[in-house]
Amino acid sequence: QRQMCIRDRSNTNLTSKNVLQTDLSSKSLGSVNLDKYVIKGGCRLTGEVNISGAKNAAVAILPAVILSDSPCRIENIPDISDVKTLTYILKEMGARVEYLDLHTVEIDPRPIMTDTVSAEIARRIRASYYFIGALLGRCRNAVVPLPGGCNFGVRPIDQHLKGFVALGCDYSLDNGMISVSAQNDLHGANIYLDVVTVGATMNIMLAAVKARGLTVIENAAREPHIVDLANFLNTMGADIRGAGTDTIKIHGVQRLRGVTYSIIPDQIEAGTYMVAAAATGGDVVVKNVTPKHLESISAKLVEMGVTIEEGDDTVRVLCERPLRKCNVKTMPHPGFPTDMQPQITTLLSVAKGTSMVNESVWENNRFKYVDELRRMGAQITVDGKVAIVEGADRLKGAPVRALDLRAGAAMVIAGLVAEGTTQVEDVQYIERGYENIVEKLVELGADIYRMEEPERTLDKIG
Ligand code: EPU
Repeated sequence: QRQMCIRDRSNTNLTSKNVLQTDLSSKSLGSVNLDKYVIKGGCRLTGEVNISGAKNAAVAILPAVILSDSPCRIENIPDISDVKTLTYILKEMGARVEYLDLHTVEIDPRPIMTDTVSAEIARRIRASYYFIGALLGRCRNAVVPLPGGCNFGVRPIDQHLKGFVALGCDYSLDNGMISVSAQNDLHGANIYLDVVTVGATMNIMLAAVKARGLTVIENAAREPHIVDLANFLNTMGADIRGAGTDTIKIHGVQRLRGVTYSIIPDQIEAGTYMVAAAATGGDVVVKNVTPKHLESISAKLVEMGVTIEEGDDTVRVLCERPLRKCNVKTMPHPGFPTDMQPQITTLLSVAKGTSMVNESVWENNRFKYVDELRRMGAQITVDGKVAIVEGADRLKGAPVRALDLRAGAAMVIAGLVAEGTTQVEDVQYIERGYENIVEKLVELGADIYRMEEPERTLDKIG
């Protein structure tokens, strides 16, 4: 049964998917169809691919809109399910949300009369925790469900809470909801983060932007999406300096106004297509990117023998020779991103020689997907935070599962390389963060299509 066979490379009018993606009804979010991707491996990827707006910037900028006292227009918004969930939450809170086209949304936060985000939808995604910082900035109170998100271990929020307390808040936990509130105005503070955390850096920024006085975040994360959130808030009238370094200074302001803002390109989506191109011995121009954000990924590909040509907003990936082993250690930006770890490990599984991959960002196991890769013939052993990858001559197609967003992307790459047919199940994880991945790969010459399965409710997938 082929519900969406889209192998025709000239077919760019993929409207049925697009209509699905902009449907903001609770029904569209309350259940998912468990589509599989069916991939016949061995096609060389060639041509051009356009990168969408950055998921991890969008998921902070959308909650940040509620700090504004007039409507905001957000451009280059990725058409992915995590964004749909957040726009649904905004609507549920009372905001007026209107899509002007697939990638432009206008949000008027003025009608919002609540300090509470309801649990039902919000607990399913990690980024709902940005509503804590944003609501504190807006009205000094926030009641938000404890966050969900991809399940690759314990994901604490102690550093977020430490920041809110320093700004003058108390918090309590009741029935899965976290309540954070300040008796008086939030006030600036010096906050040293014990670990480099993207989430806490952004959440504290959101809470501090309208606090009285100066807030200094030390040991801050430096990811491109942190700079993007700071740029968005500064365009609205905030006074944030140092984003992109490990010390961020925020002078509180009284009001923020509505603006039009365009989200940066997605570093990880771009990196994923770069790796897919290399894995298939392809020649792909990855377009609408910021090459500087991709340097750590490009450097590893070059070490493996891949040719990378950088343009102003493009990166060409050309792979003509056998891939060589290399060692990779994930680090906070500007190090090699943890969100590219499953993809590069998959690439190393077909490179010549033995490579080591060290996962240093996530304490808990982000290597669970390795069992799925082994089913395809990959020779990988995992010892705690280190995977030892013996390059195999080839992978073989098999039924595998997408265990989380990036692990799912890795399974797609494995399927593109493998001999025979690979079926990737649970692709709803992949569609949290990759816009039209099937269509984009088909455009590049991959043999992949989506096969629909009966629906089940989202409650079963955390
Ligand atoms: N940590 C703490 N305490 C905290 C917060 C984090 O100990 O209060 C630890 C975590 O356990 C982890 C490390 O700090 O070991 C880094 O966590 P971070 O807070 O940076 O992660 P996050 O904000 O929850 C975001 C992305 C993830 C990405 C990480 C690291 C979003 C919505 N998620 O998560 O993206 O892996 O940063 O770069 O922005 C993905 O896109 O697939 C994804 C999982």
